Amino acid sequence: MSLTVIRGGLVITAAEETPADVLIDGGRVAALAAHGSEIASGWSGSADRVIDATGKYVIPGGVDTHTHMELPFGGTFASDTFETGTRAAAWGGTTTIVDFAVQTAGNSLRAGLDAWHAKADGACAVDYAFHMIMSDVNEDTLKEMDGLVDEGVTSFKLFMAYPGVFYSDDGRILRAMQRSAGNGGLIMMHAENGIAIDVLVEQALAEGRTDPRHHGEVRHALLEAEATHRAIQLARVAGAPLYVVHVSAREAVAELAQARDLGLNVFGETCPQYLFLSADNLAEPGFEGAKYVCSTPLRPREHQEFLWRGLRTNDLQVVSTDHCPFCFTGQKELGRGDFSKIPNGLPGVEDRMDLLHQAVVEGRISRRRWIEIACATPARMFGLYPRKGTIAPGADADIVIYNPDAGHVISAETHHMNVDYSAYEGRTVTGRVETVLSRGELVIDDRSYVGRAGHGRYTPRGTCQYLI
Ligand code: URP
Ligand code: ZN
Ligand code: ZN
Ligand code: ZN
Repeated sequence: MSLTVIRGGLVITAAEETPADVLIDGGRVAALAAHGSEIASGWSGSADRVIDATGKYVIPGGVDTHTHMELPFGGTFASDTFETGTRAAAWGGTTTIVDFAVQTAGNSLRAGLDAWHAKADGACAVDYAFHMIMSDVNEDTLKEMDGLVDEGVTSFKLFMAYPGVFYSDDGRILRAMQRSAGNGGLIMMHAENGIAIDVLVEQALAEGRTDPRHHGEVRHALLEAEATHRAIQLARVAGAPLYVVHVSAREAVAELAQARDLGLNVFGETCPQYLFLSADNLAEPGFEGAKYVCSTPLRPREHQEFLWRGLRTNDLQVVSTDHCPFCFTGQKELGRGDFSKIPNGLPGVEDRMDLLHQAVVEGRISRRRWIEIACATPARMFGLYPRKGTIAPGADADIVIYNPDAGHVISAETHHMNVDYSAYEGRTVTGRVETVLSRGELVIDDRSYVGRAGHGRYTPRGTCQYLI
């Protein structure tokens, strides 16, 4: 195994910022030493590769714990494969994804997990792990949960939305939570009252309100808050921890904050689209709004401040992407004349680290908080820490050299995601990923892709490391 030294950079973790050289041996971080120290100087002589990071940040690779490569949805498939999606992730400084394997109703969790392994094995540029979407909570699948936790699939997504597809009623949710209370699994909740939403969808369509912007209106913020509240109470009754995914409404953040003030193991994730985009995008003229259709939906702009505040107060702990791209041409277009047929989801796996760094530039969060919400806490929440999410002796050498001064413009012309538009088209951000290592191997070398499909390994996870 070769020795690599990353010299001259500012190492930033969730805990500290240290001007240090980083020594990598055998795919892992071996040591850190002060710039110019005798130890650090000694390394450079014996290293096979020296990377100069002077004036740059040296940060842990991003950990994106919410992606949907090749997800079947609404009669089509998310347009990024594991190959294209993990390559784009690497370009954006993300070196671990946790994707959602899907159990389809009538089939076992095992069958769903096997299918996702088959899609991902040999395809990924960076490391990956799986959560399990449970579409059918029953005696068999409840038992299966225990085995999955033991083999490293330690989190289970349930849906209070999408009746007839992924939806679970409260009884099923309670049962799954009770099971997870016993086996150490973490329930991830899509918290929207799908039964009520479907009534509003039907009414909107019957009244001719068919444009994309109505997607946001019928998926009312109060129906996200109500479901969030209900999920929290069910988790309390079950004695189980709860992680609420893609939180977008201020009223839902308030529910989380209230639960956390009681000292409950209740956690929340938001995504860049809710922090940087709004219902104004859904209302863009023509059918452009379809590009921004996801669930939970983009909210009126005034919600953003509450999400940022939640990130500062740690009422929200994680920013993941919910990367679920559908091309505008041929996929989003399926919903022309009926917003309910627009496949739900936005691309973003490549943009997350840059957008959150932009929040650092704008003074919304600190550099360490950037790393905490994008790397360290996602790793801890889903049992990957300290292998992933930090730079410390023994950790996987998943490292990004980040130039904090190089500005660039986000655009579909230059991004690497397999989707024909960018949700952030034309947005200028300050900062750019320059070099990316995954377990000590170069994936991006000074803005060139040098990785390969199959480098990325399946990474079984431990249980949640974030519990009170
Ligand atoms: O619109 C979204 N979020 N699509 C992906 C599926 C989900 O609910 O996370
Ligand atoms: Zn969801
Ligand atoms: Zn609080
Ligand atoms: Zn999702």
